[in-house]
Amino acid sequence: MSLTGQVALVTGAGHGIGRASALALAQAGALVVASDIDYARAAETEQLIKEAGFESLAAVADVTDERAMNAVVDDIVRTQGRLDIVHANAGVLMAGTALTQTLDEWDKSFTVNVRGTFLTVRAVLPQMIKQKSGAIIITASVSGLIGEPDLVAYNSSKGALVNLTRQLAVEYAGRGIRVNGVCPGWIETGFNDPVLGHLDPEDLSRLVGTQVPLGRQGTAEDIAPAVVFLASDWARYITGQLLPIDGGLTSM
Ligand SMILES: NC(=O)c1ccc[n+]([C@@H]2O[C@H](COP(=O)([O-])OP(=O)(O)OC[C@H]3O[C@@H](n4cnc5c(N)ncnc54)[C@H](O)[C@@H]3O)[C@@H](O)[C@H]2O)c1
Repeated sequence: MSLTGQVALVTGAGHGIGRASALALAQAGALVVASDIDYARAAETEQLIKEAGFESLAAVADVTDERAMNAVVDDIVRTQGRLDIVHANAGVLMAGTALTQTLDEWDKSFTVNVRGTFLTVRAVLPQMIKQKSGAIIITASVSGLIGEPDLVAYNSSKGALVNLTRQLAVEYAGRGIRVNGVCPGWIETGFNDPVLGHLDPEDLSRLVGTQVPLGRQGTAEDIAPAVVFLASDWARYITGQLLPIDGGLTSM
């Protein structure tokens, strides 16, 4: 699954799933631009990748800011001459039901998760169209495939990403661009603290034991190989698909 000579952009690359995917894409041979709203975090990812002996550059952009995203992409194209892979991964989670979720939380969930992903993709499409090739991987979630307690805004926004993935795949297949999604289950990055943080370790482990057939929470490193696969030529006939990586959670 060599990505040698390719250039990749990962959003939300300063922590968790984005950081692990940035490292894995770089290990597979890509030059990875690790972008995050928090520059210090992105720079840490760049440093980790370089220390591991691979190529990386840090960038700062809020995915909800069209100008900032376009500037990151313009910079990549100007300095590297190409852009082959995008992992649109940045996201936020705020707990709430249809009655308790505030409208601000609803808007923020859709602004970061849906608009942010849309703007990331819009920024990279012109260059990929010019190259007549590209692989886009969207971080959706199992939460976009099922309903869960207390996650009305998050799950609705991730559901939108599931169909955005299919929509983009259909729109751009004829231009040589593949678009797929990963649907992580419960991944230990701290991201789920708003819904799981109040549980003590024993209760959490019991809950995971009953909900996840493989009997453990996933790690960011469990997601990264799928991103590399979907980015690679091994996935050349795969587009418009959403891959659950969830320890069997959605098969229960
Ligand atoms: N952790 C899980 O259990 C899980 C499960 C399914 C899906 N996901 C999805 O995976 C993605 C990453 O989650 P994670 O667990 O790695 O979270 P994380 O909190 O570990 O990392 C998220 C990163 O995104 C960055 N970020 C947040 N808002 C941003 C913005 N507006 N612009 C740019 N960067 C921004 C943060 O600074 C952070 O570095 C999210 O889209 C999330 O919805 C996570």
